[in-house]
Amino acid sequence: RYEITQREASAEILPGLKTPLWTYEGTFPGPTIESRRGRPITVTHRNELPVPTVVHLHGGRTPAASDGYPTDLVLPEGWPRATVHHGHGMHDPRAVVTQLTRDYTFPLDQRPTLLWYHDHRMDFTAPAIWRGLAGLHIVRDGAEDSLGLPAGRRELPLVIVDRAFAADGSLDYPALDPTLRERPGVPEPYLAGVLGDVILVNGAPWPVHEADATRYRLRILNASNARHYELEAVTDDGRRLDLVQIGADQGLLATPVTHRLLPIAPAERYDVVVDFSGVPVGSRVRLLNRLGSGRTRDVMAFVVARKAADDSRIPPILSTDLPTWRRTDAVGVREFAFRTGRMRGGHGWLIGGQPFDPARSDVTTRLGDVEVWRLIADVHHPVHLHLVGFRVLSRRGRPPLPHDAGLKDTVSLRPGEAVEIITRFDGYRGRYLFHCHNAEHEDMAMMANLEIV
Ligand code: C2O
Ligand code: CU
Ligand code: CU
Repeated sequence: RYEITQREASAEILPGLKTPLWTYEGTFPGPTIESRRGRPITVTHRNELPVPTVVHLHGGRTPAASDGYPTDLVLPEGWPRATVHHGHGMHDPRAVVTQLTRDYTFPLDQRPTLLWYHDHRMDFTAPAIWRGLAGLHIVRDGAEDSLGLPAGRRELPLVIVDRAFAADGSLDYPALDPTLRERPGVPEPYLAGVLGDVILVNGAPWPVHEADATRYRLRILNASNARHYELEAVTDDGRRLDLVQIGADQGLLATPVTHRLLPIAPAERYDVVVDFSGVPVGSRVRLLNRLGSGRTRDVMAFVVARKAADDSRIPPILSTDLPTWRRTDAVGVREFAFRTGRMRGGHGWLIGGQPFDPARSDVTTRLGDVEVWRLIADVHHPVHLHLVGFRVLSRRGRPPLPHDAGLKDTVSLRPGEAVEIITRFDGYRGRYLFHCHNAEHEDMAMMANLEIV
């Protein structure tokens, strides 16, 4: 049982300046919750922020009532009920639950992995995450614990975001002004999403981490609103270290996959082992973003401070419980185009030509059915399904790429691409979502209902 108060706080992120934040428990990222597979927990959220909020556990296999549907609001004190909701269209009274605190119950009957919780309020998710409403939730189990992977202080969760700051240290978001309450969505110039020029890892700008000359397990989350990264680990003498991927969004791979360059889209998680044992003591390994330029090329650095014993290992077989759905298992194929289009008199981002409407039913699927979904993109869209993990079947009609391995809950569609995924809709019945996880696209209506019956 956990209690989390959502409240305003400030932090010294840039030296000598105070940055006001919206937080879970006063920090950004929020407190990391660690739990065991199959051991249910309840998290009570109390909203002391000036706006309504919604909490979603991303990657959680969660009953619909606790999944954080975008209109299941936790209201702040004194919020006028009449203005609770300004939607894109109609407002579904069934969905609206309004209270000052809310218990979210998570059965956590799922593969161990790195999850994250974040705000999910309809039309306002992007500014809420930008202001700080995100935190980690790690699920573990005995099988994973016994693999011998780097652990303890050699297991590092890395929450990577970009942010823009005003001169006074406050966060700069194009729609962060007093009229935010009344004006849903994101202004048009930010169609591609909102980017920042400061990279934060676990809330600190370009941190330098002192490391032993051993293996480290890096559990990477891209919690950025819109920025994509291509990570590489480069030594001072210009060598690129292997990034040995051991897990994806939904837990361990079957076998490790070695990358030199690791693309990571918003909301994706990559579980990676790097080995600093060949790096000279006193020198650095920089984690760089190949897609960045200038200040956004640097992410963080490790200083290899000392030689040390290392009894960790990367077993050649990491897991044997990955689903093996085949195309022939599928009851059908659905196709969704993720494209820009006109809405509310301006531009929005649409799925199948339609903006999100909580009152419309988009996909109805039967509990237990396997389906293939064909996802088509105009520009870059990281597509996320709630409740289920899926496997990538193909990209552009060709086999998936190395970083598509394993069980995922978010897949990066690159410009012009068609990606096929396969999943089984099991776990719980109820109303869930799928959407683009570019947070601005999500707020500009690139979201749809997924009803499991
Ligand atoms: Cu990470 Cu629907 O969200
Ligand atoms: Cu989610
Ligand atoms: Cu998108």
